Amino acid sequence: MTLLVDGARLLDRIDQLGSISSGTGGGITRLAWSPEDLRARSLVGTWAAAAGASLRVDPAGNLIAERPGSRAGAAPVVTGSHLDTVIGAGPLDGAYGVVAGIEVLACLAEQGLVLDHPLRVMAFSNEEGVVAPPFTGSRAISGGFVESELSTPGPDGRTLASRLLDAGIDPTAVSRARWSGSVAATIELHIEQGPVLDRAGVGIGAVTGITGQRRGSVRVTGQANHAGTTPMAARRDALVAAARVVLSVHDLATAGPADVATVGRLDTKPGVPNVVPGDVVLSVDIRALAEASGDSAIERLRTQLAEIARETETTIELDVSPPTRAVLTDPDLRSMVIESAERRGLGCIELPSGAGHDASHLASLGPMAMIFVPSIAGISHNAAETTPPEDLVAGAQVLLDVIRRADNTRADRTSKQAR
Ligand code: GLV
Ligand code: MN
Ligand code: MN
Repeated sequence: MTLLVDGARLLDRIDQLGSISSGTGGGITRLAWSPEDLRARSLVGTWAAAAGASLRVDPAGNLIAERPGSRAGAAPVVTGSHLDTVIGAGPLDGAYGVVAGIEVLACLAEQGLVLDHPLRVMAFSNEEGVVAPPFTGSRAISGGFVESELSTPGPDGRTLASRLLDAGIDPTAVSRARWSGSVAATIELHIEQGPVLDRAGVGIGAVTGITGQRRGSVRVTGQANHAGTTPMAARRDALVAAARVVLSVHDLATAGPADVATVGRLDTKPGVPNVVPGDVVLSVDIRALAEASGDSAIERLRTQLAEIARETETTIELDVSPPTRAVLTDPDLRSMVIESAERRGLGCIELPSGAGHDASHLASLGPMAMIFVPSIAGISHNAAETTPPEDLVAGAQVLLDVIRRADNTRADRTSKQAR
């Protein structure tokens, strides 16, 4: 039976989510566990319930909408993405994959089609990592959540534990979100967030692998002092040292082993014009498709920080969050993406993902694939992020097709139910 997604409903729901924002500045801001994030989650919950799915919020705050399968004990097929955003985001990063997953649930329900496997549609907690280390929800599910994260202050000084408590989540229970069994298949649909598909004029991307990602923070401690009276030679200026750190991070990619490396946040204290800065905290985001390159970039950074600290008479500490390892997608699932796109008359190319995704973490539980649709001019993490509506609808259609094929193909291979 050919099953078609309802494109108008899909696009309308993306628009509805786009109106849920803290409204500060341009674009959409729905920081993880903020009131806006929780509102988006409950709106998605109403759509899932209307599609007859069961709903639960797990101990990590992940929303899980599930449609039962017909085969007793079958492991779930998992899809979905995230609802949290960066600051000043566009409407598609994350929200698209969640809405498309719900659209698949709705299509199956409307046609009364029951898959062999349960279909689990996720809205993962804190994919972006703006307020705490990223991928909290998918790491908790796959066993990668580290308890010490709870007491680490975020950029606003608040700990993850207090943030979770405010969102009605018991911080001591996050690890209980872990799934005990395997997953039949994880298939995440996402915008590309880069220029490859748009430049190639192709509607679908079959992702070959997802980049490894190491994030952390660097604290530079010097000495705050009077800007008028402290001689230049006597200064221990934390911001001057931090400026060198920014360039060192940049060079990890331009002249070192990382694929890309970014300092996206710099917090200077006391942050007034007439005081030599005494304390600076910088964020670090280092990515590489080759795992060894990510590890050696961190080693190289440590060496360079020690050198900068010595030369600037400052103290420099590097704190690295749990890494997201580079993973390859499953070749069988990837072929299903390519064939489904071709069958629908859509162009398809294979490409790696430089962005991180929750699917990386689910890959430790079973075969994983990702479907990309184009991002116009490759713009994302920006209010101007857009994808042609017909490509959004086509991507959701390919997701539905691949889920049905994976359900058929995996039926005899998997039996253990993931909780
Ligand atoms: C997630 O959006 C990332 O930073 O790759
Ligand atoms: Mn995303
Ligand atoms: Mn993102």
